[in-house]
Amino acid sequence: MAGDGATPRIAVLASGQGSNLQALLDACADGRLHAAVVGVFSDRAGAPALARAEAAGVPAQSWSPADFADRAAFDDAVFAAVAAARPDVVVCAGYMRLIGADVVAPWQGRMVNIHPSLLPRFKGLRTHARALRAGARVHGASVHFVTGDLDGGAVIAQARVPVLAGDDVEALAARVRGIEHALLVAATALVCSGRAMLCDDRLHLDGAPATAPLQLTAKGGFA
Ligand code: GRF
Repeated sequence: MAGDGATPRIAVLASGQGSNLQALLDACADGRLHAAVVGVFSDRAGAPALARAEAAGVPAQSWSPADFADRAAFDDAVFAAVAAARPDVVVCAGYMRLIGADVVAPWQGRMVNIHPSLLPRFKGLRTHARALRAGARVHGASVHFVTGDLDGGAVIAQARVPVLAGDDVEALAARVRGIEHALLVAATALVCSGRAMLCDDRLHLDGAPATAPLQLTAKGGFA
């Protein structure tokens, strides 16, 4: 993806705790992910994700949506800063705002999101509660290319967890969070290396159309 053998540059958008950001930072630091996080961008000034970035020496910036006339103006400000960081790949890691399709378009194929469900099931919010209510026996997380279609871009990879008798939202969310980090690191590595690409709205792996998303195994690799 970086094209010339240089270290791929990653920009991360995050609104919350930033545990997925931390997974990326740790993987870059210990060599599991051949990439560098070059900037963290948030819509919440108090997001713990920002402190994680600063602790790792990564520039972090935030903007308050209330300071902008509308979503387009907010997105323009955030993505001007993202572009200034010259990322090869943009990772939405718990970024809880919709991004306008116009702003997404130039990044299509280079922007991914981690979503806490097995897409295409449970797009949008409150995924764990909806999985429980639907009686799902298996739940999980997906990393997908971001397109103008909310949570609808081609899925690169997924990780599954069982839904256990007696699970409440917190228990299920914790189980899913436990597999998200390895999933995000592994899927981001595929995009950074150019092995996973978005072509004609479909996932291509190693240059060929994929018939299904990759599935993370218990060992952390892909089936
Ligand atoms: C994750 O569960 C992610 O799937 C969802 O938001 C959560 C972010 O967690 N979109 P964190 O901020 O990375 O800890």
